[in-house]
Amino acid sequence: MEVVEAENGPQALEILKREDNAFDLVISNYAPAGPQLLHHIFSQGLQLHFLLNTDKPPTGEFFEKQKAWIHFINPTSMIVDINNHVKALFKDSIKDNRPKHLQFARIKTQILTLLNPLPGDLYVKLSDVKYLRMILKDDYFDAIDMDYFSKKKNMPVLYIRTEAVVPFLAKFANIVYGKELVVKPPPKKAEDRVRFLDKALETQDESQINAMEVQGPDPNVDLAAKKKEMDEKQAALLKAKADLLKKKEELAKAAKVEKLSKEVAVELTQSLDSALAMGSKMGFNEEVQHMTKVNVLQTIAVVKKAPKLSEILDKIRSEKGKYISVHSMMLAHVACAFATKLDWTNDMTYQKLTLAAFLHDSPLTNHELAKIQSIKELEANNAKFTAEELKAYKEHPMTAAATARGFHEVPPDVDTIIAQHHERPDGTGFPRGLNHLRIAPLASVFIVAHDFVQFLISKEKIGDLSPALLDEFIRSHAVKYNSGGFRKVLAAARAIQG
Ligand SMILES: [Fe+2]
Ligand SMILES: [Fe+2]
Repeated sequence: MEVVEAENGPQALEILKREDNAFDLVISNYAPAGPQLLHHIFSQGLQLHFLLNTDKPPTGEFFEKQKAWIHFINPTSMIVDINNHVKALFKDSIKDNRPKHLQFARIKTQILTLLNPLPGDLYVKLSDVKYLRMILKDDYFDAIDMDYFSKKKNMPVLYIRTEAVVPFLAKFANIVYGKELVVKPPPKKAEDRVRFLDKALETQDESQINAMEVQGPDPNVDLAAKKKEMDEKQAALLKAKADLLKKKEELAKAAKVEKLSKEVAVELTQSLDSALAMGSKMGFNEEVQHMTKVNVLQTIAVVKKAPKLSEILDKIRSEKGKYISVHSMMLAHVACAFATKLDWTNDMTYQKLTLAAFLHDSPLTNHELAKIQSIKELEANNAKFTAEELKAYKEHPMTAAATARGFHEVPPDVDTIIAQHHERPDGTGFPRGLNHLRIAPLASVFIVAHDFVQFLISKEKIGDLSPALLDEFIRSHAVKYNSGGFRKVLAAARAIQG
């Protein structure tokens, strides 16, 4: 598009009259020249796009009728408005078809003194295909320059690269709207400057003709990007720090729970040991019952904190010379772990299994005797025990069950679990030789858990309850526990972790 400028309304009217139909668009302030220009065009039945600058757009029948042709732009957003309207009205029809190196735009020499330091190179037009670069970007265009170009050389306009239009316009808008202050150029010696400009015009250095702008990164954009990058890095660093701290705290908390749980488990084992000793001496009177029940609740509290099972078991079993209480406490933890894996996670189940574990061998005082698992094993070790001890062993499931029944407000099934703890699914157990069909579900959990505890105690080291260790237990017990609920319990044993 070719741009024609008029200094004022009458001049614009003259140009329009002289070259009717030569224009695609008129851009003007609405007051004072606007109405005259509109009258000239529309009274003759001509049509032409107008962009009229005003903060008080007029209304009425005429403007309503011509609204496809007359558009108003606001002084405060003039540059953006013009840009948007031109785009909307002419779409792709306004393309700069000149080769890239000849794409230049005019700029009024007069306004250049406001735009220091210059946001782009300044050129003078030598011909349609020759533009000579005279002043470089970031230099200052002062009164000497303005005088030189507009008066001495009669150049009311200079040229900038089309890429530089936006930076120039942005700077101009910032100055007009007070977002940026006018920078006063550093003083120059007039003769030197004029000599320099004269020389540039005379020599017309080839390298400066149609010279392209050096497209460095916009320092503002660059700075902003750098700042953003720094901010992001800083934020990431802070987040990593916070995460680390949180993780540390979590680990510390977990370690604390682990340590506390282990200590509590040992204390509870010691307390169970004294309860069992008192129970066997003076019977499970109210005081001993109370001790045992409190111990049950405290044990369940530890179970529910889900500390690492292997660590708890290791710690409990390190209590020397207390086989019965140690294996009873371990049994409570293992039986509850199995129940958890079977999704029997209610408190009552934990209480039943824990109390059963505490009492199941309570009639036995000889630790060696308590290690015996079957009548067959007992008979093989006959010589080690007195007749009374042998009798007590054979009866201990029933005696212990009776002890449980003697407890006040004890949950049901505890006595059944205890009575059946030496039964076997194939009916080879004692004292009643019940098979898997008649062994209660909780008792089957208890029986497998009891075997698992024996298995762990027989090991030099429990270590972590590794899949290999669990596998060894399952393989060695698969035939024994291949029926009904027992198979399910064995499967739960596989799911035990930690
Ligand atoms: Fe036992
Ligand atoms: Fe037993």
